[in-house]
Amino acid sequence: MTKKILFAIFVVLILFDAVESFTANCNYKVSSYVIINSVYECHIFDIPITSENKDISVTGSHLSGRNNNDVTSIWIVSDWTLTFFPKNFSNFFPNIKVISIYYLSIEALYGDELNEFPNLELFEIISSNLTTISSRLFEKTPKIRVINFSYTSLERVGHDLFTPLNVLQIKWLAFYGNCINQYEWSYNQTAILSIIDELLEKCPFDDEENFFTTISLATTTEKNLACTDRNIEYLVCDLKNEIEGIQGNLKSKEERMDKFGSQLAQIQEDTQIKIREIEATFQNELTKMGEEMQVKDGKIQIFESRLKWMEEEVLRLTTNPCACK
Ligand SMILES: *[C@@H]1O[C@H](CO)[C@@H](O)[C@H](O)[C@H]1NC(C)=O
Ligand SMILES: *[C@@H]1O[C@H](CO)[C@@H](O)[C@H](O)[C@H]1NC(C)=O
Ligand SMILES: *[C@@H]1O[C@H](CO)[C@@H](O)[C@H](O)[C@H]1NC(C)=O
Ligand SMILES: *[C@@H]1O[C@H](CO)[C@@H](O)[C@H](O)[C@H]1NC(C)=O
Repeated sequence: MTKKILFAIFVVLILFDAVESFTANCNYKVSSYVIINSVYECHIFDIPITSENKDISVTGSHLSGRNNNDVTSIWIVSDWTLTFFPKNFSNFFPNIKVISIYYLSIEALYGDELNEFPNLELFEIISSNLTTISSRLFEKTPKIRVINFSYTSLERVGHDLFTPLNVLQIKWLAFYGNCINQYEWSYNQTAILSIIDELLEKCPFDDEENFFTTISLATTTEKNLACTDRNIEYLVCDLKNEIEGIQGNLKSKEERMDKFGSQLAQIQEDTQIKIREIEATFQNELTKMGEEMQVKDGKIQIFESRLKWMEEEVLRLTTNPCACK
């Protein structure tokens, strides 16, 4: 019966998982940014991404004559509900040039977040809890020209953040309200280079590698904690844990049963052997006893015939005392 119940729970969980993707409800419109003047944008209000590795699904009606391939910009205002960086938007929008996110709750960009956007030119994270940016963030986005990390809590930036980029191509940098308080637009290359220097100097990232190992451990713990914190997810997490526990238990019980079964078979076999041994011994004993009985019977016969002879002799002597020789 437990197996059936488990299976039912399992099916429910699978359905749950399938249903629970994050839906980005796009308002499509034409927008413009500095340097990049006209983009066809998916405008999203409040997409809560509260766990990792979940599919994103995109809904919303395109402006007439446009489709997903025309979308070049994603603009998200998240109301602090983005606790993981959105993944796999590029499955829907393969031609993204602009990403602009407001009110992001993530504290660190690990470096692979933008890998799926090779054509990215503008990246903006405005008003966020972001403290840490990995050196690898722009490794796969060689076309970056505009960067705005204003009003974030930026504290440390990977030494090699700009290494993969051609800095001469960067036209616009903004870092207000964090470890530096600078911006430079225009095409003053000297000023842009001096902002980069200042950023790397004032927001140093000591021991980056170690930091990301530690933070990923902390995130795992946090995720586990978050698990206990949210209604449906809590249920799902909890059930999953329980099922894992039960499956583990079942497995160990099955293993024990298997072991017990083979022990039982061994015992049965041993018992059969013992029984056959006892039967054989018994049979031998019986035969031996039978033979001994025969011998004894023979002796008894002899003894009886002697007794008879003695009786006859006694009788003869008493009836005829002088008959003795
Ligand atoms: C993202 O897309 C890749 C490739 O299409 C796929 O392998 C991966 O499972 C997807 N991840 C999510 C969370 O959808
Ligand atoms: C991020 O900062 C906002 C505003 O300061 C705050 O309300 C929110 O709780 C913070 N989020 C996290 C995950 O720290
Ligand atoms: C960066 O973003 C902030 C907040 O939206 C904005 O006020 C500022 O003009 C932007 N700066 C640049 C240089 O784009
Ligand atoms: C370019 O920036 C540098 C450093 O901030 C400054 O000294 C210089 O005057 C600027 N050049 C122009 C043409 O604005």
